[in-house]
Amino acid sequence: MSGSIEALGSVGQEVPFCQSEWQGITFSSLGVNLSLTDLPTPDFYTAFYSRLVETYGTYRNLPADWLRSKTNTSRELSACIELDSTVLSFGCGIGFVEWVLARERPDLKIFCHDFAGVPGSWPIADLENVEFGQVPAQSAEQRSKLFNVIYLCQVLYAVPYGEAIDLLTTLANQLVDGGMLILVDSSVLPEENGQDDQENAGLASVLAKFIKKSYRNFWGASRIQDPQFWGWQRDNQRYQAIIEEAGLESIDVFAAAGQSFNLTTNLIATNSSGLPPGRG
Ligand SMILES: C[S@@+](CC[C@H](N)C(=O)[O-])C[C@H]1O[C@@H](n2cnc3c(N)ncnc32)[C@H](O)[C@@H]1O
Repeated sequence: MSGSIEALGSVGQEVPFCQSEWQGITFSSLGVNLSLTDLPTPDFYTAFYSRLVETYGTYRNLPADWLRSKTNTSRELSACIELDSTVLSFGCGIGFVEWVLARERPDLKIFCHDFAGVPGSWPIADLENVEFGQVPAQSAEQRSKLFNVIYLCQVLYAVPYGEAIDLLTTLANQLVDGGMLILVDSSVLPEENGQDDQENAGLASVLAKFIKKSYRNFWGASRIQDPQFWGWQRDNQRYQAIIEEAGLESIDVFAAAGQSFNLTTNLIATNSSGLPPGRG
């Protein structure tokens, strides 16, 4: 079952969880089959996004807390991105993070990709420095080093451990040498998201809360009405393992905008002397 707690004999923590609604839309109202064991398909997300645009119409009608949190996230990302960069957002959803980024950073060229068919009526579709839904680098034939920065904002939770390694390996190949890949996720450990109330808690207390929460989220899913298996909550140690297995090098890890940011870079190609090009 894809939803079982994975021991995997390696570092970090990873716990499956379920969800029954998102942005006030209950999954049972979408007319798609729900599953306690299989991840949502692109069709599931497409059905969800169709309902989201029917319900809210445009960004400004979405819940204010969500808009504020995503605006903060976008600004944190912006602070990590150099002038005139070409950027890929992988798993962009409705593109609000990118909309903020593109308006505040007209120097950037931003490509947006999502495996769901996201309705093109969102305001992101009107911006000149954004290409929405078309990512040339997604075609295997066209694979080349196109991007200075690739980021995945709240996406990796929906990707199993092994596939996450494969995905990051593929994306790392599409970065220029020395380019940056950024993961933005909610760590299962609150302090890794910058939540202060956990700061003084002892390890035992943190672990107890973690186990209780995990148990409630997945094994307690039968108490949630119409749950859908949603993915995995991981800690930073687990993300670091994925990053290393994908051949990326960690640059920085920090908490901001209530989440955990993992900044990584691809290892610069070496020649037979083992030195970067031009040094051997
Ligand atoms: C929680 S949303 C995040 C959207 C956006 N990045 C944001 O922060 O608002 C997760 C998104 O990841 C996309 N997604 C999940 N698995 C994916 C995959 N394997 N490939 C591409 N997109 C994926 C979903 O369609 C969804 O839009």
